[in-house]
Amino acid sequence: MFASVFVIALGLCYCSRASKPVKGAEIEVRSGSVDLFEGNMLELRCKLKAGNHVSYKWLLNGRLVSQSLLHDDRLLINRTTSQDSGSYRCVASNSFNQTDFFTSNSTEVVITVREPVKGAEIEVRSGSVDLFEGNMLELRCKLKAGNHVSYKWLLNGQLVSQSLLHDDRLLINRTTSQDSGSYRCVASNSFNQTDFFTSNSTEVVITVREPVKGAEIEVRSGSVDLFEGNMLELRCKLKAGNHVSYKWLLNGQLVSQSLLHDDRLLINRTTSQDSGSYRCVASNSFNQTDFFTSNSTEVVITVRDLVSTPNISFTVLKEDFQNYSAVVTCRSTRGTPPVTFSLYNSTEVIASVTVEEQFATFKVPLILGQDLGFLQCQARNGDNATYSEKIPLEVVPVGGPVKMPYTYDSGENYDVIGVTFYCKAEKGTHPRYQWFLNGTLLDDRGSFYYVDHQPPEMAMLMLSVGDSSAGTYHCEVSDSFDNTTAISSRRLYLDKHTLNRLPVWVVAVVFGSFTFLILLVSVCCGLGVVFRRRHYGEKSLLDFEMERMTPVYYGKLDLSHYNEDTDVVNAARWGEVDQASLDSVDEWPQIEEEKKTLEDEPAEEP
Ligand SMILES: *[C@@H]1O[C@H](CO)[C@@H](O)[C@H](O)[C@H]1NC(C)=O
Ligand SMILES: *[C@@H]1O[C@H](CO)[C@@H](O)[C@H](O)[C@H]1NC(C)=O
Ligand SMILES: *[C@@H]1O[C@H](CO)[C@@H](O)[C@H](O)[C@H]1NC(C)=O
Repeated sequence: MFASVFVIALGLCYCSRASKPVKGAEIEVRSGSVDLFEGNMLELRCKLKAGNHVSYKWLLNGRLVSQSLLHDDRLLINRTTSQDSGSYRCVASNSFNQTDFFTSNSTEVVITVREPVKGAEIEVRSGSVDLFEGNMLELRCKLKAGNHVSYKWLLNGQLVSQSLLHDDRLLINRTTSQDSGSYRCVASNSFNQTDFFTSNSTEVVITVREPVKGAEIEVRSGSVDLFEGNMLELRCKLKAGNHVSYKWLLNGQLVSQSLLHDDRLLINRTTSQDSGSYRCVASNSFNQTDFFTSNSTEVVITVRDLVSTPNISFTVLKEDFQNYSAVVTCRSTRGTPPVTFSLYNSTEVIASVTVEEQFATFKVPLILGQDLGFLQCQARNGDNATYSEKIPLEVVPVGGPVKMPYTYDSGENYDVIGVTFYCKAEKGTHPRYQWFLNGTLLDDRGSFYYVDHQPPEMAMLMLSVGDSSAGTYHCEVSDSFDNTTAISSRRLYLDKHTLNRLPVWVVAVVFGSFTFLILLVSVCCGLGVVFRRRHYGEKSLLDFEMERMTPVYYGKLDLSHYNEDTDVVNAARWGEVDQASLDSVDEWPQIEEEKKTLEDEPAEEP
């Protein structure tokens, strides 16, 4: 009876032990928070409402968790990593007599193990960094580590609109040139809103090419109308386009590269050569295959020449009896009109005029023979004024006597082959010269002569001596403004025979002098040389004095005899005449020293 009670009791007891199937499994997060930071400990326990002799399994995201982490009803991870994040579930089970199995599944508990972001880097998922506008751009911010990350994107340091972001990607379906630039992604995460982590990618430069469009010239230096020396700066403005190269054309010709600076053409000191029609040509290409070009309209630039220093001169105008004017001409050789010419006398502006030419004339009243001071021209265009030299306003009428000296050239056997007459009045600031042969006015050039006027100083008539040149010569000088005042030189007959005949008495004088010299040498012997040298020196000095008194006419040599109408000159030849130097007026002092020039003798009739 007692034994049976014990057995029943034991049976009940056993029965009661084995009859407790697992029930009400639930996860208790013993380590505290479901939100961890990597490295933190995670301890979960599978709590039961009932059950004994229980075995436990753990699932992370539906997969069995390694046995090594399990300790009875607990799951323990000492140092979590982001791998340990996920949805945990515990499964408790027991069995009775290996036949009846009981199981209880907990609800899921989501554990988050946060990992700081690390190693952000941009991946260009759309392929090339060099796009054409309209292409798609897709960038991704790749991380070496990190979860629960939020992303920001920067373009040239500016935040990119949130609307373009999709998780870790930046997506632009149709790019424009505005999307060009330097991209950077910033990945960040935080733990429990207190610890923040950030990783910046390196920058990736994206180029979105846009075809050039709407080229237009902007005149940055201001006016299209400038004076030489001013700066010219043009810019080729575009409506669209980037990665552009520029060319400039002036009147259809390429402008030198050295003047170009990016989209600008710069000429620091312009000249009139820079005038013309400018055009800029902007072009770009995509991937060296598609080329785009935009031509601007033309802009006409005018560079005006500054006016050059004017020359001043005047002619005399006889208005009526005793009334004269000076007609003053101010003339510049360069300078773009309009030019303003002003005439100054010694103290003030007399007159001023703006003309479309490079010269202007002014009329100034005049009194002959009076010193009326100075005249000066001013020429002005732009901000630039230039002045002529000052010239005296004094008109001296021609006054006599009029002289006509001459020199001659000899050929190989001392024949006279050429004669040069000079014509000069004693005074006169505005002389006009005329030459006559046998009383007939000579043109400027004939078969055997030509005329060279060098007003106001003198005029020259050059002859080649021959049969046709024979005749009576004279010159006349008159005021250029009044030809009623002509003064005539004396008349001179000249032919090749008279020129080449050596008069008997000249021979006698020369021979006599020679004989005298021999006599002198034989008497004076050694002293003769010294004496001669001194004698020569004194003579030269004497000649020089005479030349200073009469610059053109000096030796009055009476080597002529007359026939009835005209003077006949028998020219003697002098060995020391250097004919070549006669051509040059500059060498007149030498001519005077070294040559003997024959003056015409007074004519018998006027
Ligand atoms: C998270 O922050 C809250 C307060 O903001 C604090 O009470 C809690 O202890 C923090 N948890 C951890 C794991 O640091
Ligand atoms: C650029 O041209 C090369 C060949 O010249 C080609 O392989 C490449 O795909 C082109 N890129 C684009 C974006 O068109
Ligand atoms: C000038 O007159 C002379 C005579 O007096 C004559 O022999 C000579 O041929 C004339 N010359 C000319 C060019 O007419």
